[in-house]
Amino acid sequence: MKAVLTWFDSRYPSAYKLWMDHLAGYYAPKNFNFWYYFGSLALLMLVVQIVSGIFLTMNYKPGAETAFASVEYIMRDVNWGWLIRYMHSTGASFFFIVVYLHMFRGLLYGSYRAPRELVWILGMLIYFALMAEAFMGYLLPWGQMSYWGAQVIISLFGAVPYIGDELTLWIRGDFVVSDATLNRFFALHVIAVPIALLGLVVVHIFALHDVGSNNPDGIEIKKNKDENGIPKDGIPFHPYYTVKDIFGVMVFGMLFAWVMFYAPEMYGYFLEYNNFVPADSLTTPEHIAPVWYFTPYYAILRAIPDKLGGVIGMGGAVGIFFLLPWLDRSPVKSIRYKAWPFKFALFLFTVSFIALGILGVLPAEGTYITLARIFSGIYFGFFILMPIYSTWGTPKEVPERVTM
Ligand code: HEM
Repeated sequence: MKAVLTWFDSRYPSAYKLWMDHLAGYYAPKNFNFWYYFGSLALLMLVVQIVSGIFLTMNYKPGAETAFASVEYIMRDVNWGWLIRYMHSTGASFFFIVVYLHMFRGLLYGSYRAPRELVWILGMLIYFALMAEAFMGYLLPWGQMSYWGAQVIISLFGAVPYIGDELTLWIRGDFVVSDATLNRFFALHVIAVPIALLGLVVVHIFALHDVGSNNPDGIEIKKNKDENGIPKDGIPFHPYYTVKDIFGVMVFGMLFAWVMFYAPEMYGYFLEYNNFVPADSLTTPEHIAPVWYFTPYYAILRAIPDKLGGVIGMGGAVGIFFLLPWLDRSPVKSIRYKAWPFKFALFLFTVSFIALGILGVLPAEGTYITLARIFSGIYFGFFILMPIYSTWGTPKEVPERVTM
């Protein structure tokens, strides 16, 4: 074994360097908690989606005449096809659950702040790519919701001044969502966006490992090193955090399997009931609602009466996360030490994000519209007013070394 390793090492020495830089020799803070499971779980979900996607593609047939029937064929006739499909459809929702919790950890512990601004920006690019990936994947089963959801979202590009109509035509490749749209979405969904996602994830992790991980105390462990240059509050990622993450994967796997086997549709939230009806360009479903992970933004879109305004509001609601590193002026990073106004603002933001998510599946009328407007106001207020309220109050004193 040693001889093989020496042979390998003398021909590809940077493989050992990678192992040291990112696993055995990467010192991570010793106080990682529950919130630090979700990065590795996001990696797991990326792999689950790619592998299940490859197997789906072996039997799926893109095309307005063939797509719906090929999905039914996968569900009924292909050996284990139902499992592969449910793995992929449940996987999409679990991917978003994990990524939302991963982002929320960033908000809790100020992980977006210097020196990790780039890690955050790369994360946001991943989030954008993931949304594009999910949106295009949803058209592929060619059900009623696939069709009409795509119709609604693509037509939003028509609100862009001057070039709107040309732009929607260019995206669809036709005057309505059609076979041409389905085929290009298939190409983008199975190859273009996954490549971009993989590349971005690698750069995201490399950038993080250059500056080092943040932690629940928001203390920079690199500022406190021993005589060998090793952070006093750090422990090697491997074996300590590989073991922790494997435990996380096992618990998460049980939860994932439970949903996949017993509630794959999740009462219409993971797979919408209308999508079991083949796409019909002549019959519009009564309520068109996107899958749950898009509904907060959909609620913002519908809360603004003007079409262009709605599109700007929806785009702005996602895009504004990019600015977070420069909006937070608090002298401390972690919520553990922040003053009460920031804690309160984060609480309000979390409530409004969830409330908008619920309002996004309800019809846009009466009280629901009023509520969506109020919560949209709080949502944007959280970001826009952050430079002001993040400086209010007296933060707790941050200790020199990490606490457990
Ligand atoms: C495919 C999606 C993603 C994958 C696979 C991924 C992977 C990871 C991994 C493995 C880590 C290190 C472990 C950890 O801190 O949990 C990490 C850290 C981080 N990620 Fe992501 N990530 C993804 C998406 C995102 C998104 C959408 C954001 C935010 C917009 C983000 C922001 C961060 C930040 C700020 C850190 C550093 C956290 C800290 O040190 O406290 N990531 N990511």
